[in-house]
Amino acid sequence: MKKALITGGMGYIGSHTVVELHEAGYDIVIVDNLSNSRLFILNHLEKICKKKITFYELDLCDLEKVEALFVTEKHFDVVVHFAAYKAVGESVEQPLKYYQNNLTSLTNVLVCMEKYACQNIVFSSSCTVYGFPKQLPVTEETPFQKALSAYGSTKQMGEDILEKVVYNKKIKVIALRYFNPVGAHHSALIGELPLGKPNNLMPFITQTAIGKQDQLNVWGNDYDTPDGSCIRDYIHVVDLAKAHVKSCDRMLQKNTNDDFEVFNVGTGKGISVLEMIHIFEQENKVKINFKIANRREGDAIVMYADTIKANSVLGWKAEKNLSDMVIDSWRWEQNVASFLTTV
Ligand code: NAD
Ligand code: WQD
Repeated sequence: MKKALITGGMGYIGSHTVVELHEAGYDIVIVDNLSNSRLFILNHLEKICKKKITFYELDLCDLEKVEALFVTEKHFDVVVHFAAYKAVGESVEQPLKYYQNNLTSLTNVLVCMEKYACQNIVFSSSCTVYGFPKQLPVTEETPFQKALSAYGSTKQMGEDILEKVVYNKKIKVIALRYFNPVGAHHSALIGELPLGKPNNLMPFITQTAIGKQDQLNVWGNDYDTPDGSCIRDYIHVVDLAKAHVKSCDRMLQKNTNDDFEVFNVGTGKGISVLEMIHIFEQENKVKINFKIANRREGDAIVMYADTIKANSVLGWKAEKNLSDMVIDSWRWEQNVASFLTTV
């Protein structure tokens, strides 16, 4: 059986990927320090997978503990490295927290992979590496712009570290640049768990719909877009998870063209903030209390992916539509409060 180490596997995208990799026949080991997750997720993953899952609660910044894990588990065919802090605003306020966690955890994993002969890593990168892109849609060749936050900088640096590491011919990399993940597993047993007040659009919409937030601010309706609000490429988290299965399979079947490969993972379609609110209201038959507010500093106006490379080379394509995204996000929001109080 193919064995995968999933770092950050208790988190939003990691947990959905655990399910998809399990369904694809991978044996899973999760490492997470629960800095942005809760233990009930493990229980729910076991319910979905109908199987006990090996879980290590540890901080990947602790090299000795990471080494001990590699020794105990003996062998991994592939590592899928999700573990990182991801709050853009917080990273501006506390940059060192982000450099320390996101880069130390990555280098510790790489040191152990090299030492214990694990060849393959799939890395969570982000569309944030493109900054304010000068061309749309963004292709994998679109040049990086200067990172606007320490978070964005850790993703650019993470890719740079990986690109250098492959020169030793011991490690191969697939970096996936995610666009805007939304939605949840159809079971509504796993989903996104924002800490405190959400920054991202979808959890803010769902929390406003359920009454946890009074009002959603739409950050600007005077942009040069058809309805004046910003445009993004929203991707269902289950589709995104499946891109990781394709990446792991590609590496294990030795199908890669290069030791360092990069793919954009989005739908290729841009949706505005106002469109998203209207689709959410229409599909879920709920009203969102929103108002138009000033522009948010640092927002790109339009961002969507060119997915030709992911479609043709990785053999992956987003299958879920906007209706799936808003329905699954809402179903999760309606359940999550009960999970948080019971465990
Ligand atoms: P998440 O916070 O839900 O999951 C990350 C998990 O990593 C959490 O469970 C957290 O507890 C764990 N973790 C963090 N630091 C750790 C450490 N030092 N040791 C062990 N565990 C640690 O985030 P997510 O949305 O699932 O994102 C996963 C990855 O994808 C991240 O690398 C993120 O930067 C990247 N990404 C996310 C988005 C997004 O919008 N969600 C977009 C692009 C890229
Ligand atoms: C989407 C749109 C907002 C909240 C972030 C990270 C990026 C990547 C993806 C990790 C924007 C608007 C939002 C609200 C709003 N993550 N909005 N009211 O900014 O595209 O990207 O997630 O790598 O690094 O920066 O996502 O969900 O914050 O915003 O009007 O309350 O929704 O202005 O146009 P963003 P988002």
